[in-house]
Amino acid sequence: MSKETVTIIDNRTGKEVELPIVQATQGPSVVDIGKFYQETGLFTYDPGFLSTASCDSAITFIDGDNGILQYGGYSIESLAEQSNFLEVSYLMLNGELPEKEQQEKFSDIITHHSMLNESLRNFFHSFYHDAHPMAIMVGVVGSLSAFYHDSTDINNPRHREIAAHRMIAKMPTIAAGCYKHSIGEPLVYPDNNLSYTGNLLKMMFSVPCEEYQVDPVAEKALDLIFILHVDHEQNASTSTVRLAGSSRANPFACIASGIAALWGPAHGGANEAVLSVLEEIGDVSQIPKYIARAKDKTDSFRLMGFGHRVYKNYDPRAKIIRTMCHEVLEKLGHRHDPLFELALRLEEIALKDEYFIKRKLYPNVDFYSGLIYKALGIPTNMFTVMFAIARTVGWVAHWTEMISAEGQRIGRPRQLYVGPKQRDYISIDKR
Ligand code: SDX
Repeated sequence: MSKETVTIIDNRTGKEVELPIVQATQGPSVVDIGKFYQETGLFTYDPGFLSTASCDSAITFIDGDNGILQYGGYSIESLAEQSNFLEVSYLMLNGELPEKEQQEKFSDIITHHSMLNESLRNFFHSFYHDAHPMAIMVGVVGSLSAFYHDSTDINNPRHREIAAHRMIAKMPTIAAGCYKHSIGEPLVYPDNNLSYTGNLLKMMFSVPCEEYQVDPVAEKALDLIFILHVDHEQNASTSTVRLAGSSRANPFACIASGIAALWGPAHGGANEAVLSVLEEIGDVSQIPKYIARAKDKTDSFRLMGFGHRVYKNYDPRAKIIRTMCHEVLEKLGHRHDPLFELALRLEEIALKDEYFIKRKLYPNVDFYSGLIYKALGIPTNMFTVMFAIARTVGWVAHWTEMISAEGQRIGRPRQLYVGPKQRDYISIDKR
């Protein structure tokens, strides 16, 4: 079949530029504009990347109009129901679900890479006591690039694999360290007898002076929430990791750049912002006032946890978390959490409002997740840290996919220049 193409007619010259269409296995295909500038002398322009694919990837598929999310071809619903975080992590790194022996080996590797270099404990303590845990995390993860000189030759596939395993394994230990430092308690070492999320809970909530028992409800809830946060195609933080990685920078430094991008309230920082909004609204009677504020263009207030660049339908992750909220809050004895009741009413009212319907603004993954974290005793300023633990798997998977791609080149976008034209220098005494 002849290659499908798109023809652009430059009305300034009448010249026709034929551009090849590259087929997707699912979802929109793309038009390859690689030669567009050379043929027309024009750059394409798409500041928010609303219509721009920055790469090809086999990792995650999203259909925003139909609210579909798949990791490696498996629906998020099936993985949430039947899989676990480490098995999904294996899938993201290898493109296939593991066989039993592969899963056991992978789990053992991750368990045995969970400790940090002892000198990093001092680094935690060098932060001011009221540093935001995300500020500590971005610093500590970046500092991992000061270690492991024996295994960061990113041209070596084995080194890339070790760096990936180390990053995934150490995030819970680093996250717990951020939390412990922020509450002035001693850092807790990993326990190799525990699961990935059980270890995280123990490192966060145990103290040296008494025994700690992992709550299986909390352990399972965290594992499920982490599955839902593992990856999401070319979101802002993943694109940041890819761009940083395209210069062939140290992998740990690239992951730190992803943490920095995730922190923003328009992205992963939204889960923390949702709790602040719910606490500010306070009562169901105040919902109409805040819905009106969210619609008022003169008011910077936004209904955090609502809206999404890609989903113009319900975020499938939000649906799963909302259902889970009921179960977890019930099991943890927070059945009548007023903030959860408030969130349900807020969603109900917003989804009936013309403003939200017209703009296809639905709850996203961040709308309910914070309510579960809160019920697990995790403080609001740690919510995005939790998001970062899970998303590290996606960042590492995309970094590996990009670095190992044939003909990988540095990402270097161009611009529409709107600054002053060339002008002569004027000495200061003549200005
Ligand atoms: C995540 O990209 C990913 O995949 C991200 C993520 C992942 O897993 O990596 O899914 C995780 O980041 C989820 C999103 C978390 N952010 C929030 O919940 C913050 C609140 N939502 C927004 O700020 C906004 O919806 C974004 C940032 C999520 C999307 O922004 P867009 O696509 O640039 O859309 P926009 O800001 O241009 O909004 C379109 C319209 C505007 O109104 P009009 O100018 O057309 O009149 O919708 C309005 C916006 O004002 N709007 C909102 C709103 N979100 C959009 N109005 C009120 N409240 C909101 N939350």
